[in-house]
Amino acid sequence: MKIRYLLTALFAAALGGLASLGASHPAAAQGKELVLYCSPQIEWCQLMVKEFEKATGIDVAMTRKSSGETFAQIKAESRNPKGDVWWGGTGDPHLQAAEEDLTAEYTATNFDELHDWAQRQAAAGNNRTVGIYAGALGIGYNSELLEQAGLAPPKCWSDLTKAEYKGEIQIANPNSSGTSYTTLATLVQIFGEDEAFEFMKAMHKNVNQYTKSGSAPIKNAARGETAIAITFQHDMVTQKVLGFPIEIVSPCEGTGFEIGSMSIIKGGPNPDSAKAFYNFALRADIQEMAASARAYQVPSNASATPPPQAPKLEDIKLIDYDFKKYGSSEVRRRLLKRWDEEVGSLPR
Ligand code: G6P
Repeated sequence: MKIRYLLTALFAAALGGLASLGASHPAAAQGKELVLYCSPQIEWCQLMVKEFEKATGIDVAMTRKSSGETFAQIKAESRNPKGDVWWGGTGDPHLQAAEEDLTAEYTATNFDELHDWAQRQAAAGNNRTVGIYAGALGIGYNSELLEQAGLAPPKCWSDLTKAEYKGEIQIANPNSSGTSYTTLATLVQIFGEDEAFEFMKAMHKNVNQYTKSGSAPIKNAARGETAIAITFQHDMVTQKVLGFPIEIVSPCEGTGFEIGSMSIIKGGPNPDSAKAFYNFALRADIQEMAASARAYQVPSNASATPPPQAPKLEDIKLIDYDFKKYGSSEVRRRLLKRWDEEVGSLPR
């Protein structure tokens, strides 16, 4: 009797607890949560969280980390996945995650609305990823700083090894940053692998810092901490829009580009919320909100109007970037190892 009474009391207390939890977190009580790993600029991540919570009542726990870092985290957690969706960041590590069975196959309900390039990204990753935006790499510079130093602006990748730019260039570390890995892969595709590494070794003496995040160099150029930055051109536009004296160069040899991607993490705790977010993030009206967070990528939904400030990819000399090859496990791992051994470890 006593035990039965105790059990009933415990059950009632548990129900009461759930009810009060439900009162303050209705979504959480129904198991409606989402753990989001976010790799684009934090302002855009925050906007997506706010809009998704508003639209669905699902509570989102979000962390922002660079593309390479997020890949490493998902891999490290693969025995006990903690994240549901990896939204944004360059496509190469998303393809590597697909190949390494870290992400789940899913075709969005609105997949047919996407540009070819976004659909091709899904095909390259066996439907374990999809393109959400695109953007081209460039060389950005602070025009006031260059002028004060009496330096001519660079026009080509090959200019970046000139002795006059000693200590003037910033780029991210390609291990943590997808922007920087895309740059590495671009240089390899333009110059050939050995020549690209010679170039990066020569540029190393002009590099004042390898940052963790891909867009940090242009933010630092805007604030006068470095004269030249290698980032995506849309990240340069953000700084221009903020009023900083940043100019954008599309390198004369041609340049690479990203297909920013999204993937569902395999075995994540909230698969239904993950699918809801996937479909939500591909909607034209949601993609069009990016500009309000000063994110100026080209959206992947063909019905979404790109922000007027977005660099026009058709006006930029783009290389025929081989996403499948440079997003493959073998190639990405090997190139990063070679970068560590031949470039990252050089004294400065
Ligand atoms: C910036 C860009 C994104 C890109 C991301 C990659 O946020 O705006 O288009 O996908 O960088 O970040 P990462 O830190 O990995 O280079």
